[in-house]
Amino acid sequence: MTDMLKKAREFEEAQEKLVPQELRPVLHFSPRIGWLNDPNGFSYYRGQYHLFYQYYPYDSHWGPMHWGHAVSRDLISWTYLPCALAPEGEGSGGCFSGSAVPYGDGRQLLMYTQAEFDPAVRNRHTNQTQGVALGDGLNYVKYDGNPVLTSEDVPGGNDPHQFRDPWLWKNRDGEFRVLTTGYDPADEYARLLLFGSEDGLHWRFRKVFLQNRGKVGRLWECPSFFPLGDRWALIASAMFMQPKGELSPGNGAFGLVGTYEEEMESFRPESIQAVDGGIDFYAAQVLKTADGRTVMIAWMMNQEISDIRSEELPIHGQMIIPRELSLRDGRICQRPVRELDLCRQNRVQHQGVELSEAGIRLPGIRGRILDLELCIHSQDAEEISIRFAEDSRFYTECAVLPRKGRIRVDRSRSGTRNAALLCREADLIHTGREIRLRIVLDRWSAEIFINDGEQVMTLTFHTELTAQDISFRARGQAKIDVTGYTLDPTRIRETKE
Ligand code: FRU
Repeated sequence: MTDMLKKAREFEEAQEKLVPQELRPVLHFSPRIGWLNDPNGFSYYRGQYHLFYQYYPYDSHWGPMHWGHAVSRDLISWTYLPCALAPEGEGSGGCFSGSAVPYGDGRQLLMYTQAEFDPAVRNRHTNQTQGVALGDGLNYVKYDGNPVLTSEDVPGGNDPHQFRDPWLWKNRDGEFRVLTTGYDPADEYARLLLFGSEDGLHWRFRKVFLQNRGKVGRLWECPSFFPLGDRWALIASAMFMQPKGELSPGNGAFGLVGTYEEEMESFRPESIQAVDGGIDFYAAQVLKTADGRTVMIAWMMNQEISDIRSEELPIHGQMIIPRELSLRDGRICQRPVRELDLCRQNRVQHQGVELSEAGIRLPGIRGRILDLELCIHSQDAEEISIRFAEDSRFYTECAVLPRKGRIRVDRSRSGTRNAALLCREADLIHTGREIRLRIVLDRWSAEIFINDGEQVMTLTFHTELTAQDISFRARGQAKIDVTGYTLDPTRIRETKE
């Protein structure tokens, strides 16, 4: 074990104990200590789900990247394992994002981006190459032939600062494939590069898999490519997007659904969508569960504004609750993994509640760790809104605008003093007399599933935990049915036993 890894393992073990449990989300994965960004190597291996993550244990801000590690049997409750990968040495950028596949001999193969700061470039740019490591689910050894891929393996060249985030899989013949993001110095836009290998250690360029040519943002990060229903889907995160269709300006994840000709290794996208129209969602990865579900996890933060935070906390960053993906009318739809349903407790139901401009609270619907199912009945109200994490000063809001066919999330009154990106609005794909919402609250976040997960909007907020109220109001005529549950992850074990 290298000194850097040993140091990280000792540090996290000692420091984890100092994080008060009540400052952690209950259902969302948060770092053992320090900073978390992208999920990595999200996989099912030897009877457990493995989640690695971009991790800087020594501070709650981004720093040279380690791979943190945790395992779970239900995708909701996670057990921390010792840090899996550490940077090569002091002054290195560390191990950037990557993925995992089973290796032929029972071990697990990780591929990650080796990032070395480029002293010639300002702004913490790194030279990026791909490295692999093999391990048994607890300890991983970096291959001594690393790097296994550099930008020089790309015919015609590739910008060495933009070559990262390998997404591994095995093709039908059992050969390894990997997609990485790249950047074409000629047209100055992102692209995805495909490489192949028979043994996972020796890799060759196969083709430019997909070219952006200025359609979606400038740079791409963290691709995942996988079969979904009778199609294939590609989810990636883009930087510097212009608003277009469902895509908002800035950084965010987009999904392409299309056909994949495996012989030719050719993917033809047929549609594009926003994966999450809220504020905080990035760098998604998927796995296949033992019972055949396709489940996605993602970093629940907008990296441009990761400064909206509580400075006092020794941890920063969390993942979304893993979501099951399905294809409906050519669209990637999402729902929280069904294991979340097993955490539900204390059901409270209110039917046909008439709403007015004066907000109302409903008995039993209160708190910061809740699962709410709402059915809004309205023909032409101007606005129906739900405020949560509310007290006399603060709230965060989700508002449906039936006349405009829009929906909005807004955290401008959540207590933040930061002006950046506090509100997002989206067109509703389906409007009608009924709009269904499922809102999952977990202390510092809300994940809002619209019309059975046809759209999702996720956002975080850092309102003091004493703000526990929830209220409902409408401008115009509207009625609402509300079913609420408290959520307790320890219920999963009890229900299964
Ligand atoms: C996305 C990202 C990846 C990179 C990692 C570094 O959030 O920028 O492209 O591998 O984070 O931490």
